[in-house]
Amino acid sequence: MAFLDKHKVIETHATLLLVLSFLVVTIGGLVQIVPLFYLENTIEKVEGVRPYTPLELEGRSIYIREGCYGCHSQMIRPMRDEVERYGHYSLAAESMYDHPFQWGSKRTGPDLARVGGRYSDSWHVDHMIDPQSVVPESVMPKYAFMMNNVIDGQYIADKLSTNALVGVPYSEAMIENAIADFAAQADPNADTAGLQERYGAAAFGHLDVNVSNFDGQPELTEMDAIIAYLQVLGTMVDFTTFIPDPTR
Ligand code: HEC
Repeated sequence: MAFLDKHKVIETHATLLLVLSFLVVTIGGLVQIVPLFYLENTIEKVEGVRPYTPLELEGRSIYIREGCYGCHSQMIRPMRDEVERYGHYSLAAESMYDHPFQWGSKRTGPDLARVGGRYSDSWHVDHMIDPQSVVPESVMPKYAFMMNNVIDGQYIADKLSTNALVGVPYSEAMIENAIADFAAQADPNADTAGLQERYGAAAFGHLDVNVSNFDGQPELTEMDAIIAYLQVLGTMVDFTTFIPDPTR
């Protein structure tokens, strides 16, 4: 057993074993990691996925500020029970513009990855003001104060620029018009041609931006922003025509 004898040399010298193990792990690691640096993108591009509008982005910040992720995940796993309850399993592309992503791991409440369009705006208003008024057994806290917090988007252009810095494709025009787009989305009487041209179906696929007076009040409040955000979740990809790329 000459081969095993040679191996015995390695097994009985701790330092040699350490050095050789290190070498093997290094090579193995490099083989896995290095190709990733040469790939343009590891996420399959999917039609319809677009950067959040300024108002949705603001709603997303409020979502993070309030820690909604502590009770809600945003990732539908490809298991039958999840897909039957929540809809098509989440695609990586659907959170490619999320910095940071909101996948989460705690579900005190339901997954929200596809809550967009499931309820009316006014249902969300009632639910956010007092969850128990629509779901009596709910343990979700009340967020009625959002109705009173008027916002004007004064930092929204900076927020878009910051996202652009980490790779979200916000164009110059999007950043320049951030405040106007911010206000227009919550005002059904506003001129939304520019907003739709930048974020709507013409630019990104099957959906126009959802323009609505989300909270039903004349003022633009945090409630408008959070509902605009909730209503877009999981709606960007058209799953009636989506075909997964089998090579990925
Ligand atoms: C303490 C845990 C908790 C926190 C924090 C929480 N929720 Fe909930 N949420 C729940 C529970 C439980 C439900 C299910 C009962 C209900 O509908 O109220 C729920 C339901 C929901 C629903 C309805 C989902 C569906 O498919 O029916 C939405 C939308 C929602 N929450 C949004 C939010 C947002 C936005 C925040 C942050 C501002 C938030 N939640 C914070 C526990 C929480």
